[in-house]
Amino acid sequence: GPPFPVFTRQEVARHHSEADRVWVTYGSDVFDVTDFLELHPGGKSKILLAAGGALEPFWALYAMHKQEHVLELLQGYKVGEL
Ligand code: HEM
Repeated sequence: GPPFPVFTRQEVARHHSEADRVWVTYGSDVFDVTDFLELHPGGKSKILLAAGGALEPFWALYAMHKQEHVLELLQGYKVGEL
């Protein structure tokens, strides 16, 4: 497929609310998970804790995310790379 646009962490950090779209990073990938907020089994508020930044510190605590089906779901929301 076509290359993804490249963003800085500063640009990602601007997307920290539903009004600004909710972006997160995982590794060097950037995701817009706004449309997933209402679908999250752990609730919208939990994702908002990570909004604009990295998932890793949160997923270190909630290790149920480190499963193939979760990572595949996340890939569907990819919008760019760092
Ligand atoms: C559960 C996806 C971010 C907390 C889940 C599950 C999925 C998911 C698919 C169900 C997993 C399973 O049962 O097999 C995501 C995605 C995220 C995200 C795509 C990134 C946007 C977060 C964050 C937190 C969190 C940042 C915590 C701050 C939880 C909790 C559950 C859960 C507590 C368990 C809910 C339950 O079973 O009652 N998440 N998650 N998630 N997530 Fe997330």
